[in-house]
Amino acid sequence: MRSPRTRTPRRTPAQQLLRRLDRRRAHLSVIGLGYVGLPLAVELGKAGFRVSGIDLQEKRVAQLARGRSYVQDVPAEDVATLVRAGLFHPTTDFSVLRHADAVNVCVPTPLSKMRDPDVSYIVAAVEQVARYLHRGMLVILESTTYPGTTTELLLPMLEKTGMKVGEDFFLAFSPERVDPGNPTFGTRNIPKVVGGVTPTCTQVALKLYQQRLEHVVPVSSPQVAEMVKLLENTFRSVNIGLVNEMALMCQRMGIDVWEVIDAAKTKPFGFMPFYPGPGLGGHCIPIDPFYLSWKARAAGFEARFIELAGHVNGHMPEHVVDLVAQNLNRRGRAVHGSKVLVLGVAYKADIDDTRESPSLDIMQTLLQRGARVDYSDPHVPGLEFMGARRESVALTPARLRGYDCVVVATAHAGFDYPAILRHARGIVDTRNAFKGRRSGKITRL
Ligand SMILES: NC(=O)c1ccc[n+]([C@@H]2O[C@H](COP(=O)([O-])OP(=O)(O)OC[C@H]3O[C@@H](n4cnc5c(N)ncnc54)[C@H](O)[C@@H]3O)[C@@H](O)[C@H]2O)c1
Repeated sequence: MRSPRTRTPRRTPAQQLLRRLDRRRAHLSVIGLGYVGLPLAVELGKAGFRVSGIDLQEKRVAQLARGRSYVQDVPAEDVATLVRAGLFHPTTDFSVLRHADAVNVCVPTPLSKMRDPDVSYIVAAVEQVARYLHRGMLVILESTTYPGTTTELLLPMLEKTGMKVGEDFFLAFSPERVDPGNPTFGTRNIPKVVGGVTPTCTQVALKLYQQRLEHVVPVSSPQVAEMVKLLENTFRSVNIGLVNEMALMCQRMGIDVWEVIDAAKTKPFGFMPFYPGPGLGGHCIPIDPFYLSWKARAAGFEARFIELAGHVNGHMPEHVVDLVAQNLNRRGRAVHGSKVLVLGVAYKADIDDTRESPSLDIMQTLLQRGARVDYSDPHVPGLEFMGARRESVALTPARLRGYDCVVVATAHAGFDYPAILRHARGIVDTRNAFKGRRSGKITRL
């Protein structure tokens, strides 16, 4: 007699996806190929997945398809190798999502003119995801945003399709913590926090990242994951605000704030050094805390530290211009009519990103006060500024001598500081680039 055949139960969509991820057979996609999305797409491609990278900018997609890279931390040869191997397919066509097992959304989250969150890029991207949502698909939002975005905004958009989260499709938030230009920590070895809408959502999202990233950190919900990122960036903004206020205070009292910080950081516990500077820059620290304060306000809570830090940090570019005025005044000159050279327009050292850079605010304020302004930045050869194209000037001794004041706004390693000190007539140093150098030319922050 034949024994009755035992039927193996059909695998659930989650089980199928876990299997495909484990075997690296899953087809992945990343929406938004910028500073966050491109490194992620490349890492996933290096893990052996086929990755479709979707961006609206045809120029970027064409560059990537030719094996070029516009993100400093992503070598062109990595892009070229993956494109050649068929593991990375850059495209402007969202229909590739029809065959995608997972999609990571890495689009911008700026502030509106009223300094409220502008989630229109997320909405536009997720509308496309909803259009191609299918059973077994994993959707992960990586863009920095206010707590609640994943469950209050994305989930209804996706469930409108009639599919159920945690069963038919999976949804999670995982904040991106990449630090452009950081030689030690990159996409692969920065621990990745993951919070799914359901435990199954967290499980599948973790499985995806575990295929390539060294550390994953599960949390209980997308709201927690969203808040983690905002805590981290608010922590930085508030501490920078505190140290900037210390710098202003120390200046009044004739104390060198840089020496104070250097000595304070010898304490082996309970202190972490932050440094003053010309103001906040980049796409995260000046913006993200306001996503949080906006959401807190909606809940009837006033986030006072965030507002105060924003106020102190936002005032720093103007303070730097006041230092320029002081420096010129020593030589009997006014800002009006003086020639000023701003060194560094990227928002931090040794990178090429000028978004929200305080150098631009400094240049604008100097121009408004009647100065003639140039900039020099080895990482930013050209710049659209106040409706016109500007080019970086070369730092020759003759040129340096031609300016009434030189402002070190971003301390790129490539600047020849001894030559600047030798040839500049006056210097405003906002970064302690001339640490330990005593010279009547220098006005320090
Ligand atoms: N840059 C950083 O260091 C950093 C670090 C951590 C987190 N973040 C966050 O990550 C997110 C992305 O930032 P980024 O710096 O990579 O931005 P980015 O501007 O460098 O790149 C975003 C890309 O998305 C594309 N895009 C915009 N809308 C799109 C759409 N609807 N469909 C497809 N593509 C679209 C843009 O063309 C651009 O190429 C933001 O929320 C940001 O706050 C950035």
